[in-house]
Amino acid sequence: MANLRLMITLITVLVCLFSSFTKSSKDIRIDLPKSLNLTLLTDPSTISAASQDFGNITTVTPGGVICPSSSSDISRLLHYAANGKITFQVAARGQGHSLKGQASVSGGVVVNMTCLSDVVVSKDKKYADVAAGTLWVDVLKKTAEKGVSPVCWTDYLHISVGGTLSNGGIGGQVFRNGPLISNVLELDVISGKGEMLTCSPKLNSELFYGVLGGLGQFGIITRARIVLDHAPKKVIIHEKMKTMQIRLKS
Ligand SMILES: Cc1cc2nc3c(=O)[nH]c(=O)nc-3n(C[C@H](O)[C@H](O)[C@H](O)COP(=O)(O)OP(=O)(O)OC[C@H]3O[C@@H](n4cnc5c(N)ncnc54)[C@H](O)[C@@H]3O)c2cc1C
Ligand SMILES: *[C@@H]1O[C@H](CO)[C@@H](O)[C@H](O)[C@H]1NC(C)=O
Ligand SMILES: *[C@@H]1O[C@H](CO)[C@@H](O)[C@H](O)[C@H]1NC(C)=O
Ligand SMILES: *[C@@H]1O[C@H](CO)[C@@H](O)[C@H](O)[C@H]1NC(C)=O
Repeated sequence: MANLRLMITLITVLVCLFSSFTKSSKDIRIDLPKSLNLTLLTDPSTISAASQDFGNITTVTPGGVICPSSSSDISRLLHYAANGKITFQVAARGQGHSLKGQASVSGGVVVNMTCLSDVVVSKDKKYADVAAGTLWVDVLKKTAEKGVSPVCWTDYLHISVGGTLSNGGIGGQVFRNGPLISNVLELDVISGKGEMLTCSPKLNSELFYGVLGGLGQFGIITRARIVLDHAPKKVIIHEKMKTMQIRLKS
């Protein structure tokens, strides 16, 4: 009799354990306290958009999405995710041009980096401070207005600065100037604990080199200081059999 009771107890424990492991992300509710002053978007169309990426191979369903209005929003979110009543995972999403769900997290919170977009060219035009959600095409527009541009590019320009720097960044100018991650002077990063840190080859260098090409595993980039140089007046693109001459400025 005692043995039977023990067995029933064991089975109950096992069933509970199993069901907690197989809990689908839909069962996980993330309640952010009011004091955080963050709006967690959970409507089906936002969740569905954040669950998919360019690869169209995987569906990774997050518990919610935030559209940050400043880097401090991301800092508060990450601090809470690590220390709050419930812990959860967070993933940054740029343009979601990943192929296998890297820009989402099952049951966690996706930070829509597109909400942070800004380009400020320095007075001496030697660099631009760019918010991580900015698309390269918008970096081009803003810098070319001032006769300067980054020294290397992705070939496809409708991807985010933060997403590209988390990968590497290659394109037509890379053979001469190195990949995009080699032409960054400084980054603002929110660490996994929610600290806002500035890093460069001299300051917090381990974080700097970890984050560049780090696939979002070492923190979330909020700002990148990108090297600029004079923009050429004219470029020639050799593409397969075509040769195009593009006049950038009259
Ligand atoms: C059609 C197409 C063309 C492409 N062309 C090029 C090209 O010419 N050159 C090139 O180098 N690559 C190219 N890529 C690859 C591209 O660089 C990567 O897919 C990159 O991830 C795209 O940036 P994204 O903004 O879409 O990033 P996402 O897919 O949104 O994110 C990529 C990864 O970075 C993380 N992440 C995003 N933002 C941040 C952030 N601010 N801080 C920390 N982590 C972050 C995400 O969590 C994820 O792990 C191309 C991809 C596609 C689909
Ligand atoms: C809450 O966030 C909004 C913008 O997201 C901001 O305008 C407002 O000042 C914030 N409130 C407090 C109390 O910080
Ligand atoms: C991210 O924000 C942009 C700009 O507000 C919006 O167009 C886009 O649909 C959002 N993406 C997701 C996945 O929420
Ligand atoms: C993505 O995949 C789904 C099926 O899994 C398909 O219905 C849809 O058309 C695909 N989208 C693209 C853009 O290929």
